[in-house]
Amino acid sequence: MICGYAIPRVNCSWKIAPYFSHVVTTESRKLKYFIVLIFLESVKLVLLTRYFISQLATTVAKFSKPPFTRLATTTINRPLQSIQNTSDTPKIVRRRWWKEAIAYQIYPRSFQDSNGDGIGDLTGIIQRLDHIKDLGADLIWLCPIFKSPNDDNGYDISDYQVIMDVFGNMADMERLIKEIHDRKMKIIFDMVLNHTSDEHSWFIESRSSRTSTKRDWYIWRDGKPGGLRPNNWESIFNGSAWEYDKTTDQYYLHLFSPKMPDLNWENADLRQELYKICNWWLAKGIDGFRIDAISHIKKKPGLPDLPNPKQLEFVSSFDYHMNVEGIEEYLREFRNATFGTLDVVSVGEANGVGADQAQDWVDEDTGIFNMIFQFEGLNLWAKALGALDVLALKRIMTRWQKALEAKGWNALFLENHDKPRIVSTWGNDKEYLRECATAFGTVYFLMMGTPFIYQGQEIGMTNVKYPSINDYNDVAAKNFYNLELAKGIDHRDIMEIIYVTGRDNARTPMQWDDSPNAGFSTAQQTWLGVNPNYVHINVQQQSKDENSILNFYKRLIKLRKNNDVFIYGTYDLILSNHKQVYGYTRTLNDKRAYILINLTDRPAQFTLYQSLSSKQLVLTNLIDPIQEHEDEKTFKFHPYEIRVYIIDHKLHTTISKNQMEPSKNPSIETLNELNSTVSTPISTLTTSEVPLTKKQTQVLEKVKQKRTNNPLVEINENVKKKQKGEINDSNESLIKKYQSQRSLILNQENIEPIIRTSTFEQQRRPFSSYSSLTLKDQYDVVNETTTSTDKVDDEESTDTRSKYINYCACEQAKQKHLLRDQNEEILKHTQEQM
Ligand code: GLC
Ligand code: CA
Repeated sequence: MICGYAIPRVNCSWKIAPYFSHVVTTESRKLKYFIVLIFLESVKLVLLTRYFISQLATTVAKFSKPPFTRLATTTINRPLQSIQNTSDTPKIVRRRWWKEAIAYQIYPRSFQDSNGDGIGDLTGIIQRLDHIKDLGADLIWLCPIFKSPNDDNGYDISDYQVIMDVFGNMADMERLIKEIHDRKMKIIFDMVLNHTSDEHSWFIESRSSRTSTKRDWYIWRDGKPGGLRPNNWESIFNGSAWEYDKTTDQYYLHLFSPKMPDLNWENADLRQELYKICNWWLAKGIDGFRIDAISHIKKKPGLPDLPNPKQLEFVSSFDYHMNVEGIEEYLREFRNATFGTLDVVSVGEANGVGADQAQDWVDEDTGIFNMIFQFEGLNLWAKALGALDVLALKRIMTRWQKALEAKGWNALFLENHDKPRIVSTWGNDKEYLRECATAFGTVYFLMMGTPFIYQGQEIGMTNVKYPSINDYNDVAAKNFYNLELAKGIDHRDIMEIIYVTGRDNARTPMQWDDSPNAGFSTAQQTWLGVNPNYVHINVQQQSKDENSILNFYKRLIKLRKNNDVFIYGTYDLILSNHKQVYGYTRTLNDKRAYILINLTDRPAQFTLYQSLSSKQLVLTNLIDPIQEHEDEKTFKFHPYEIRVYIIDHKLHTTISKNQMEPSKNPSIETLNELNSTVSTPISTLTTSEVPLTKKQTQVLEKVKQKRTNNPLVEINENVKKKQKGEINDSNESLIKKYQSQRSLILNQENIEPIIRTSTFEQQRRPFSSYSSLTLKDQYDVVNETTTSTDKVDDEESTDTRSKYINYCACEQAKQKHLLRDQNEEILKHTQEQM
């Protein structure tokens, strides 16, 4: 080929020589002629060399192309897409800093008090930043720190541009931002834009007269005849959503407490003012926002009464103010006017947004926010009334994972300042605190999305039980207590509910050490009581203990950070019907991780299609060494046992462009890093990276001669030959390579696609759901949840199954074709090499 192409060019230069020969006659002319000839010959040589190099590069590229690329990157990972949209090529999953980050939420009142007044503050946060850094987190979400009368601990803002005095001042804030950035971490603010405090100057102005220039910045209405409220909406914090104001003889709307009047987003001037404030903070160097209660900004036009068949005094009103149609116009304007064009992160608190709508909110290209906090999983916590429904958890989490696959991004969380502690609700904080804290930590952490840790979660802080309602601070809990007491419910019964559902469970001061007040404050009394168990649950003690929850979290974070498969890999649920074990895989190119977690306090047994070996184990929460195992498929797990395995089919190292952008700083993990993530050290991992030796290529040549259309037959043949001793050990690695590829394919059966997207009725009540119900209602809610779960089970066993069977057949056919292609490719490769 090369010669064939070169000859005409050589001929061409020969044609030039006779042209010069009849013009040049003298010696000097001969010399000039000679020089020109040399010049032309050198040009020819350069051109030839360049041509040769380019040919060589193409050949090398062709030879080094990994034979299984297509299989490993496109097909295996894309079962859902291949059913739903066969013609579609997978969309690019873009690398973003906030996708690779680990977020840590600080509730400033309870993190660290630096001046002995019993309340946490900004200087206190600075003192403790190294704890967050050591943990491995790098994105801090700071709950509101703005000026506030603290009816709802800062979520009632009276000035967006002033720091709450008990927390410090603007200089402290600027120092905090700097200290965070100096440590290569980022900080996001909690912006509350649905409402302000009634002490905000805007509201004071608005309520002053019906003709005030800011009257329309809030939602004012006349009462109905007979002294009735404008409508029957119930507040999220209980009681009516309307408050009467006698100065102007009108009512104002407050979805939360009466001291938190709702802003009127229909007023364009108000909206512009809110955007200005956000931009003002962005200009101060913060790295984005968590946007509070943002799905409530639009109310149903006309503010009509809700249907009230039970003739209740107030009716739960979420349907008329949560994710109401038309909200997207405001959201889009907000995004475009503020964070939209900046490299910052935005996380919306989006109660009422279902998985089927999530893409509208967080689509990589057209969405509003980078992520949203979803509420669908929150009502699974009814511990006092029954254990965690593992199947329901799987369905909800999987639905969100699949809904946003290659489209958007999830905000992953289990705890926050509105939720009781996970170990006390879903787990067992008595006998199995360490085990269940690490199990719950792992189950959400390795899914697709950015994991958020709420302060104290990393040491397994628990719920608290104080005897009197006066020991509590939460406005929602206090309202609930008073309303229930007025109905004649017994104090102890009400407290039992608060113990299980109250938000103060998560707000007790951070437990740093076993000194008085857990090292949080030197005050006589802290703003909320310290949980008495700080003596044995605290950061200092856990730092020293290699097997502590804290050190487990550090390993977990390291594992995620060092392995792209946990960040960008495709999620698939396995063991979908197992009632105790949550199992899922993450797959990225040549790696597949198996995440297996027993979420109950009973031993659990299960069998996988894929066999796993101890050398592939990268994380466990067991203290005793795990028994060596080789190609194990059946497992018996201890209560809350977790194991994470990575199968590394390292056939190539390049990241497919098809699937995601290449890393700017590709971090290919070393075996040591992997080992360091396992509390019980594992033996050295083997790699299946196999360069083709001459002998191997000879074997391949033989395979080529004998090959049929089904390459799996060849693999079996080779295995048989190996058993008979016909193939020597030097070929073994190649066969293993085939085998691992085969098991990857067969393992497809283990991955059940989730086809149903929106049949599961979304739970619409937020954190205060139980608080706003009577005791009897609560039992009804739990029963409803259980019933709907059963209903979904039935659906899955019929509808989904039949689709699943078609899917399997179709996938198998595709795999065969691919294998045939790949086999051809590998043989061509071999042939070319020989
Ligand atoms: C959000 C906050 C919660 C607050 C409410 C009202 O849900 O997380 O703490 O009470 O909004 O601002
Ligand atoms: Ca303080």
